[in-house]
Amino acid sequence: MSQSGLLSFAKKCALYAGEIIREGFNRVKKVDFKGIGDPVTEFDRRSEELIVGAIRKEYPGHDILGEEATDINTGYGIRWIIDPLDGTVNFTHSIPLIAISIAVEVEGKIKAGVIYNPILNDMYEASAGNGAFHNGQPIRVSGISDPEKALVITGFPYKRDRVDEIMKPMKTFVEKYEAFRRLGSAAIDMAYIACGMGEVFYEEGLKPWDTAAGSLIVTESGGIVSDYYGGEYSPENSTILAANPLIYSNALEIMKKVPKP
Ligand code: IPD
Ligand code: CA
Ligand code: CA
Repeated sequence: MSQSGLLSFAKKCALYAGEIIREGFNRVKKVDFKGIGDPVTEFDRRSEELIVGAIRKEYPGHDILGEEATDINTGYGIRWIIDPLDGTVNFTHSIPLIAISIAVEVEGKIKAGVIYNPILNDMYEASAGNGAFHNGQPIRVSGISDPEKALVITGFPYKRDRVDEIMKPMKTFVEKYEAFRRLGSAAIDMAYIACGMGEVFYEEGLKPWDTAAGSLIVTESGGIVSDYYGGEYSPENSTILAANPLIYSNALEIMKKVPKP
């Protein structure tokens, strides 16, 4: 089973799931809540069903972790990590910054990843050692090293129990960096860092499906991904920092001051 075969199957799944998401985008959606501020729609669920069904058919036996209740964990050694719709709040408000995120982890390492925005028709993809691409064109992180010219992107967890800790680095970035954004989809945030549209992304409380594909796309485009304290990226980490290598150390010093969750 080749890395390129896994990547092209992940892309195919994302394109098909994109049809479901597009179908729902301009409709009035019925929104259920899994927790406070944590919405889900029939389109999140249908997208996951389609992707999981396709993987089960093509690769029976592979493990699969999906946000909407899929957890097939047999210790097979290959695990698909899926966010069937990242940016559900944007989706329910018809803001077109949303994505389907699919990663393939082999023996604990992310080897292939796709992030697909079906509304803007943007496909971001990477496989380990082969670079990252946006709609077929190679992408690189930006070469900006000066904080005063750097754009920082973040997101806020649905759980609101660490608002003071979350505000701390935000204040420093707002004071010292050029600009600060909250786009509403961690997958899109990371794809934009990979393309050089922003210099630093950080967030706490994310889940494996939010960051797995994005972590590979950022590193394959020349960026660095770690936790807030410089520790190696793992999908299970509770904090993430992604940046271009020229500004990473500056951002890391800011993030290190955040008390561990
Ligand atoms: C959310 C988005 C958002 C981030 C949240 C995530 P969802 O994922 O990625 O940008 O700030 O923490 O949970 O729920 O839309 O798939
Ligand atoms: Ca998500
Ligand atoms: Ca989701």
